[in-house]
Amino acid sequence: MVPSRSSRVAIVAAFISLCLPLATSAAVIKPKDWKLAVGWNGTTLPASAFGRSMGPFTPPAGTSASAASQKLGSVQADIGRPGGVFICINVDWQGECGYAVQPLNECIVLDSPWRDTISSFGPDPGATCFAFSSGNCDTNDGEWSFEYPGDDTGGIWTTDSWNDKITNFACTTS
Ligand SMILES: *[C@@H]1O[C@H](CO)[C@@H](O)[C@H](O)[C@H]1NC(C)=O
Repeated sequence: MVPSRSSRVAIVAAFISLCLPLATSAAVIKPKDWKLAVGWNGTTLPASAFGRSMGPFTPPAGTSASAASQKLGSVQADIGRPGGVFICINVDWQGECGYAVQPLNECIVLDSPWRDTISSFGPDPGATCFAFSSGNCDTNDGEWSFEYPGDDTGGIWTTDSWNDKITNFACTTS
């Protein structure tokens, strides 16, 4: 059966009235923080919950936060802060997790339960975080780098796994 002209108009009007509220409410929805999607409970821990600064960090020569990361930092600044990191002691953002914002360009030495346990490392947009297994941030020692949204594999499928090895990290935007 082909609907009469008036019932077609009514159907179209009903469709528009259904969709309009959806369209307008979608426009005001704020970007959802990616960490919530992977299980973050919304608590920002004090920086000292991860560890403490050992002193200033100088990024390795020839490296800098990528253009993509810088761009995300400006576009999505409202879903995190450069220097913010979400870390978990298991892969797949599992096990004990925590989120804290560290000062940029500082070498953070991790305390228990994070030292030598991290298997998921997720920086907020806008910074690159370098991680080390050396007990310091000496760039001559093994180092890994992470950018938003991070890596939840421990690097266990690579020849350079960082699973349960990180003692220190430092985030930088330069
Ligand atoms: C959220 O997780 C933190 C650890 O990151 C924990 O200390 C806190 O108690 C949790 N809060 C709630 C409401 O579950």
